[in-house]
Amino acid sequence: MSGELSPIDRAKFAAAKRAAEFVEDGMKVGLGTGSTAAWLVRCLGEMVRDDGLDITGVPTSTRTATLARDVGIKVVGLDEARWLDLTIDGADEFDADLNLIKGGGGALLQEKIVATSSDQMIVIADVSKQVDTLGAFPLPVEVIPFGWQTSKALVEEMLSAMDVLGTSSSLRMNGDAPFVTDEGNYIIDLHLTRIGSPRQLALALNQIPGIVENGLFMDICDVAVIGHGDGRVEVKDINDGTVHEEKINFVETDNLFTDLAD
Ligand code: 5RP
Repeated sequence: MSGELSPIDRAKFAAAKRAAEFVEDGMKVGLGTGSTAAWLVRCLGEMVRDDGLDITGVPTSTRTATLARDVGIKVVGLDEARWLDLTIDGADEFDADLNLIKGGGGALLQEKIVATSSDQMIVIADVSKQVDTLGAFPLPVEVIPFGWQTSKALVEEMLSAMDVLGTSSSLRMNGDAPFVTDEGNYIIDLHLTRIGSPRQLALALNQIPGIVENGLFMDICDVAVIGHGDGRVEVKDINDGTVHEEKINFVETDNLFTDLAD
């Protein structure tokens, strides 16, 4: 069955499967959003069902909450869980220091709150997400709908003084209407091409009235599990300064493959 997956899905699955091994009985686990995180949720659901793994999941979106419940994971909100042992989530880009761009799926606000409420954050990604310099992927910024055009103009003006290559931005759409986040906000995507000083940019963005949060995750991620299409995974721990490689064996009967990622 695994033969029907594209190399990119195999890479995502491999990263998710390896990352699931970090999850232990009794843990409160932040569950990310996106296609890679969906594989993780399915892997954890299988462990709950087949191995009796006892965990509490805190989803980062309504999408993930629905999937987690569907696969049998006990789900609570962050206010009930308060503090988490671990969050595992995908990313749109990550650099050598494990700083991230997130929010391609529009869930960056809950994702950042949940990740920073955790003892540890693990990012799971296929190797194509690894970059030398952040910024080729448009940086998502969550903005409240009231006065969003003014907020967008202020962001573009601020960008002209930043170490970035591009300064244009666009309102994310869902068909003919603006894309709306779980919090009822809009997303403005910043087309920067290259972000020279992501730390400075992240701080400057959050100073602009109307901006709720930005998709730069600085100093939040501890470990990256990087998947390859042939089943290899690299586990990179930024705190230990270690990287080691392992191989995930795709089991032909693995029933997770019957349900492709979203
Ligand atoms: C959602 C995110 C996702 O983690 C990111 O977009 C990666 O998604 P995928 O695993 O589908 O490539 O930040 O807001």
